[in-house]
Amino acid sequence: MHIDIITTLPRLIESPFSDSILKRAQAKGIVTVNVVDLRQYSTNKHRTTDDYAFGGGAGMVMMIEPIDNCIADLKSQRTYDDIIYMSPDGQRFSQAIANELSLKQNLIILCGHYKGVDERVREHLITREISIGDYVLSGGELAAAVVSDAVIRLIPGVLSDETSALSDSFQDNLIAPPVYTRPAEYKGWKVPDVLLSGHASKIEEWRHDQSLERTRQRRPELLK
Ligand code: ADE
Repeated sequence: MHIDIITTLPRLIESPFSDSILKRAQAKGIVTVNVVDLRQYSTNKHRTTDDYAFGGGAGMVMMIEPIDNCIADLKSQRTYDDIIYMSPDGQRFSQAIANELSLKQNLIILCGHYKGVDERVREHLITREISIGDYVLSGGELAAAVVSDAVIRLIPGVLSDETSALSDSFQDNLIAPPVYTRPAEYKGWKVPDVLLSGHASKIEEWRHDQSLERTRQRRPELLK
């Protein structure tokens, strides 16, 4: 998979990809992440990418021209499955969308800032809009990192234990069961006996029951 992330603040997005699973996924050649500095596509000498809103009002608006030039340049190099705009009024991100995006070859993620982008970008250049929740971030960068992380870890070969993404919370609309490690007893607080029993099918059954019970208590709407 190849992901181009378009931003005016490249440094904001670089560190999540420089560690741990996302770093290894790139080192293994499973995914390439390219952070594109939108300012390079600015047409004015100050390299600005935003301007005042027509009609007045507070907040700057990201201009269409640098974004169009940037996307056109990227498109001349690859064919993209989706051009995603991160926005609080986009489609709510979920594990199902992460699964769907993990099957794509090439993605562009455009990070918004200020009061957002000129609406014509959304009408003509974007194929999909994603929100990571009903709250407003200062920009789309952190949201793009969240989406990229959730997607990349699902690509086969990224996680060393390939089954572990399948046992994640939400993967089957259930919350993951509790986990424990050594010591088996700490300050008198004990690990459930069944997990120490070595009885694989009983452990499996216990985990499933715990998942169901947790989901019922914490997220009953997932069971509907
Ligand atoms: N940009 C600002 N807030 C956002 C959100 N909640 N989701 C995606 N992009 C955003």
